[in-house]
Amino acid sequence: MQPLALAAIALLPAAFATWDGNLNYHSPSRRHPSLGIDVPLVAKRGLELQKRETWDPAKLEFTHSVASGDPYPNSVILWTRISPSVENDKSNVTVEGAVSLYNHDTEVYIKASPNPICVEYRVSIDKNFTKVVDKGTAYTTSDIDYTVKVEAKNLQPFTTYYYQFNVCGSTKSSPLGRTKTSPAANDDVSKIGIAVYSCSNYPNGYFNAYGNSARKDNVDYVIHLGDYIYETGKGKLGTDPRATNPKGTIFTLYDYRTRIAQHRTDKDLSLSHQNFPWIPVWDDHEVSNNGYRDGASGLNNTEASFLKAGRVSVDQRKMNAVRAYFEWMPIRQVDMDDNLRIWRNFQMGKLFDLIMLDTRNYDRSITTLNDNDAYIAMLANDAGRTLMGSHQENWFYNQLSKSSERGATWRIIGNQIVFSRIDNNGKGSFNGDAWDGYQANKNRTFKHLYDNKIGNNIMLAGDSHANWVSDLVWLNGSNYDSSTGANSIGVEFAGTAVTSGNPITIAGANKKSKSLVEDNAELQWSERYYRGYYELQISKDKIDASYFGSPTVATRNPLEIPLANFTVKAGDNHLTRPVAGGAVQAGALQKGSLKQTNLTLNTETGKWNVTKIDGMFLSY
Ligand SMILES: *[C@@H]1O[C@H](CO)[C@@H](O)[C@H](O)[C@H]1NC(C)=O
Ligand SMILES: *[C@@H]1O[C@H](CO)[C@@H](O)[C@H](O)[C@H]1NC(C)=O
Ligand SMILES: *[C@@H]1O[C@H](CO)[C@@H](O)[C@H](O)[C@H]1NC(C)=O
Ligand SMILES: *[C@@H]1O[C@H](CO)[C@@H](O)[C@H](O)[C@H]1NC(C)=O
Ligand SMILES: *[C@@H]1O[C@H](CO)[C@@H](O)[C@H](O)[C@H]1NC(C)=O
Ligand SMILES: *[C@@H]1O[C@H](CO)[C@@H](O)[C@H](O)[C@H]1NC(C)=O
Ligand SMILES: *[C@@H]1O[C@H](CO)[C@@H](O)[C@H](O)[C@H]1NC(C)=O
Ligand SMILES: *[C@@H]1O[C@H](CO)[C@@H](O)[C@H](O)[C@H]1NC(C)=O
Repeated sequence: MQPLALAAIALLPAAFATWDGNLNYHSPSRRHPSLGIDVPLVAKRGLELQKRETWDPAKLEFTHSVASGDPYPNSVILWTRISPSVENDKSNVTVEGAVSLYNHDTEVYIKASPNPICVEYRVSIDKNFTKVVDKGTAYTTSDIDYTVKVEAKNLQPFTTYYYQFNVCGSTKSSPLGRTKTSPAANDDVSKIGIAVYSCSNYPNGYFNAYGNSARKDNVDYVIHLGDYIYETGKGKLGTDPRATNPKGTIFTLYDYRTRIAQHRTDKDLSLSHQNFPWIPVWDDHEVSNNGYRDGASGLNNTEASFLKAGRVSVDQRKMNAVRAYFEWMPIRQVDMDDNLRIWRNFQMGKLFDLIMLDTRNYDRSITTLNDNDAYIAMLANDAGRTLMGSHQENWFYNQLSKSSERGATWRIIGNQIVFSRIDNNGKGSFNGDAWDGYQANKNRTFKHLYDNKIGNNIMLAGDSHANWVSDLVWLNGSNYDSSTGANSIGVEFAGTAVTSGNPITIAGANKKSKSLVEDNAELQWSERYYRGYYELQISKDKIDASYFGSPTVATRNPLEIPLANFTVKAGDNHLTRPVAGGAVQAGALQKGSLKQTNLTLNTETGKWNVTKIDGMFLSY
């Protein structure tokens, strides 16, 4: 193989370099080489195939628009997919699988997969590409589901760019994408806006919330806290427009590719990817419900479970999910030597550090799996339990310290599950799958912040399908003053789902919120009816948070209701009083009132008659 691979390099030096340019040929982890593709082998196969025929651009499509993500001051990841079909690749390619395509005796490819497709990309500061600042070429093949992921370089900090892909030597082009680099670590930036999302379940409704921030266009970046897809199936394809594809629960690489690809057909999700650089992390459903290091609620690490799941083991399933995720999401692998690492950080000028965690798949101790709630409740305060694993946990505390030492005003922590203590019934019932099930890890986090006098901490969370805004409080007896916020060390903004959740009426939701704030002194606002998202406008003096609700996700529409607004002033380490200005559109405040305005439906302005939708669930 080596001499032939060298011949390929000699014949096509420029072309060979472009195989490497597509990051999706590489495994995201050196510890899991089978997640990568044997590039010399694919290049050699491509060379042979190209001798026979090349692609007719008319037969190719940019099937899923464009995306960008993981902005650095001088570079950003760009993504597209160019394919002869919308269908995802069915092969379960591994290095071994790729080798099996090649007959070593005859030196002939016995099962030729389609030809490599060549794409060019350009990056410019203007939409007309009069000032191209970076360009390149890359190949893609069925081995990586025809995805293309490249790193655009030579960029300036905190600058907006436009980018586009085209089939090499052809006018066949992708949609025009827009992206933005991050500020350099020492830059003084006056304001950065982020939109925060989680939990988009395709069969539950339309992803209107994703589109709304693109339509308003008042943020710089999109943060996704996971549950970007769901692994379970629902509905009947062909009859129900939001039925899942594949039909049932997903296990194989093909399954995961197909499910992510289907989510990406949602026009509002696509619009968001096309207009904003994303910084995503996964939660459990990117692999499987209530996942942890060794399993998930729907898949035990046992032989019986293995047989039930179509002979896909926990580890193989995780590999399939991770591989499809890295193929389809515009993210970087920041440390190839560190397992299936997705936790990473972004220095957003002197304004803030964005610390993205993996409290789910990396190294989490056992969680609630439907049949072991009592066991987890018993373990919740066990000193040995961990959400992140010691490697990530130490890194997390170091990031908090470094951020504080470098003088960044805020520390914003992008995390999956709700951090604050939430007693669900006033009798000590806690969610064992949230930080409440991992008390020791929570305490160590608080202890690090208090011991090192690190303030201005903002915790973000998704996962729960409800809105929760709390002062960050380590409950040592009664040292927290709920009316002033004294003895708090930051604020948690946890957001509801884009679509996930169970039917509930506004009245029922508000009643539950009222009892939740009564039972949890640090919980300043609870809201459970609306699907939606929230925005943070971050500046040196304060952070403004605005929560938005989608009046309905049963149809594709641009409507949204402003639910509540919060402010955190730098140095305060708690919400500004009166919290939410003393009044919210929905849910319950610790101190304050519900001021439901009657909005009238007006599709042009996006206003909605709230009373009209009470009692109607929003799900598709
Ligand atoms: C891929 O894996 C799945 C499950 O292991 C199997 O059913 C399917 O036949 C495999 N596909 C190919 C092309 O080998
Ligand atoms: C860009 O192109 C559009 C139409 O193609 C044109 O109207 C516009 O003036 C151009 N802008 C610049 C800066 O060249
Ligand atoms: C996992 O094991 C538990 C018993 O320990 C059982 O109740 C459950 O059905 C199993 N789940 C699967 C998916 O096999
Ligand atoms: C964590 O802190 C809480 C509140 O101070 C305390 O009740 C609990 O025992 C601590 N748990 C561990 C494992 O440190
Ligand atoms: C909370 O209690 C722990 C020990 O129980 C202590 O180490 C810590 O300093 C206390 N934190 C505060 C804010 O009082
Ligand atoms: C939140 O602020 C926005 C913009 O300032 C305003 O339109 C909206 O009514 C506010 N919402 C609430 C619930 O106070
Ligand atoms: C809300 O909608 C209902 C039903 O369309 C209508 O009867 C009512 O007058 C509306 N209320 C307001 C304040 O617009
Ligand atoms: C909103 O509508 C309800 C029922 O239609 C009505 O009782 C209430 O007075 C209205 N509130 C406002 C502020 O218009």
